[in-house]
Amino acid sequence: MKSDRKMKRVWVCGSKGQLGLSLQGIVGGSKHRYFFTDVEVDICSRDNVEEYVRQNEIDVIINCAAYTAVDAAEKDKEKAYAVNHLAVENLSLVAEKNGVFLIHISTDYVFDGRASRPYMEDDAVNPMSVYGDSKWKGERAIEESGCKYIILRTAWLYSQYGKNFVKTMIRLTSEKESISVVNDQRGCPTYAGDLARVIYDVVERDDYEKTQGVYHYVGGGSCSWWELAREVARVAGNDRCEIKPCTTSEYPTVAHRPAYSVLDARKVQETFGIEIPHWKEALRKCMANIKKGE
Ligand SMILES: NC(=O)c1ccc[n+]([C@@H]2O[C@H](COP(=O)([O-])OP(=O)(O)OC[C@H]3O[C@@H](n4cnc5c(N)ncnc54)[C@H](OP(=O)(O)O)[C@@H]3O)[C@@H](O)[C@H]2O)c1
Repeated sequence: MKSDRKMKRVWVCGSKGQLGLSLQGIVGGSKHRYFFTDVEVDICSRDNVEEYVRQNEIDVIINCAAYTAVDAAEKDKEKAYAVNHLAVENLSLVAEKNGVFLIHISTDYVFDGRASRPYMEDDAVNPMSVYGDSKWKGERAIEESGCKYIILRTAWLYSQYGKNFVKTMIRLTSEKESISVVNDQRGCPTYAGDLARVIYDVVERDDYEKTQGVYHYVGGGSCSWWELAREVARVAGNDRCEIKPCTTSEYPTVAHRPAYSVLDARKVQETFGIEIPHWKEALRKCMANIKKGE
């Protein structure tokens, strides 16, 4: 029987994004066989998903695909909901029908950011943006589909790949004499390489089906964007740029940003027995990889 196979066939969709590329970098020694696709297998089409799963006899889907342009999503609603909600519904319904296990990534933006303590997995959601709402609808579609799943909510993701805050700050603090960075939004910077390692380890375990549910995975500790920018500049040795703190109202964005989006990650630690590195330690690791050009 397919589910009894020792060597699982694992499909990573959205494999050219930050998390997908991070996964590609570490699966070499796996006992399982990995398949990577990006937009060439458009998961917004149920037929594509069904066909890919059947043809490749997929056992596990890791969904790294998403519409992640938070501000653009406010205008480009249809596309955001197509990728973050309907495509996730496709994956989950096909997963349910074919006995496939689904690992899906979600976001701190499902919360409104008004809490005064770290968010637990079962805290009430209240998304304040199209992106957050589309991701929340994706989560619900999974839960309603009846498939077996793990949803990992993460936040403030950065890596050596693509565009992200850390890479932007390395560049700006080397080019400019002075920049202003928001200091009244607090969250948990998360190195995509660390999240990829957790996902990889979960799949390597043969008992992941017993650990279904929603989990938070974020880097240890928390900070503001200003504190993160200062640490990036410090590690990069860009000490000539003045980094001034500013408020959200001084740096308006199209989409609402949660003021407080610290996620409590104890459940993932306790369930999977993992240690979560502090965000400063993870940042140093990522910046070393950026320097090496990896
Ligand atoms: N980035 C963050 O700060 C952050 C924070 C919290 C949670 N997350 C979540 O973490 C996950 C990974 O994020 P990430 O930063 O790695 O995302 P990313 O870099 O934007 O990568 C997403 C990938 O999915 C692809 N994609 C988009 N639509 C697709 C479709 N219809 N079919 C197949 N592939 C498609 C994208 O291609 P194109 O680029 O060509 O569109 C891109 O290669 C996402 O679920 C995201 O919501 C991210």
